[in-house]
Amino acid sequence: MDKYLVIGDPIEHSISPEIHTRFASDTGQKLSYTRLRVKPADFTFKVDELIKDGIKGMNITLPLKELAFAYADTLSLRAELAGAVNTFKIEAGQVYGDNTDGAGLVRDLKFNLGFNIKDIRILLLGAGGAAKGILKPLLDEKPSQLHIANRTPGKAFELQEKYKSYGNINASGFLDISGKYDLIINATSASVTGDMPDVNPEVLGKNALCYDLMYAKKPTAFINWSHTHGAISAVDGLGMLVEQAAESFYLWRGVRPKTRDLIFELKA
Ligand code: ATR
Repeated sequence: MDKYLVIGDPIEHSISPEIHTRFASDTGQKLSYTRLRVKPADFTFKVDELIKDGIKGMNITLPLKELAFAYADTLSLRAELAGAVNTFKIEAGQVYGDNTDGAGLVRDLKFNLGFNIKDIRILLLGAGGAAKGILKPLLDEKPSQLHIANRTPGKAFELQEKYKSYGNINASGFLDISGKYDLIINATSASVTGDMPDVNPEVLGKNALCYDLMYAKKPTAFINWSHTHGAISAVDGLGMLVEQAAESFYLWRGVRPKTRDLIFELKA
């Protein structure tokens, strides 16, 4: 049976094994998918070992995505631009690195939430690894503007510079965001500590959708902020998590699993 797994640290709360096992049974694919805690210092040794044992593919989560990027033999364009890899496909000992996070977000927005991204104004909060993973797939959808705001403005300007040939991008610190936005994405890690970036609620457009990339059992500080200030809808990253998994599954098996019922069940 073909073997797959997710590695990260911490990893015990990852629901990727449940998601992929469900995909496999729904599509009639015979495979096993487990989780393994791997500390950054052990990354190369552990991955070498897994490949020697014949693993066919891996998902890589925090804090190992940059290490995975450095490890891969070849990369997709979206992984190369992101500087981070969340999926390995292993064939004849060669490791192909991809990043399915952004595609997962875009699919959740378009197909599950029915949200059109073309010609809209997007505000992206954060300029770390999570932001980098979604920038290119978002810009490919041709928003009219994408504004990156970060606590440390210099990092937002760096991303603006790097991605400016792919779309209309601005950058600033949190206090210098101007105008109103249709989609506000929280890609900061502030939700992890229950904090909300210091953003003026005036940025919320009339029918704004707020999307926290983080998935949590309880509403995040960003989701609470969005509801308090009148966002029409505020969602967490569960849909993205299932969709990025589906993208990885498709890359490995050539079959696209259905996601909608699973997202619905996990949200219940
Ligand atoms: P990740 O891979 O989760 O994106 P990261 O690369 O360390 O993690 O990036 C964390 C992001 O969250 C950064 O944009 C960080 O802002 P800085 O660049 O100024 O550090 C942002 N962040 C973390 N905690 C935050 C907080 N309490 N308020 C606002 N932004 C925060």
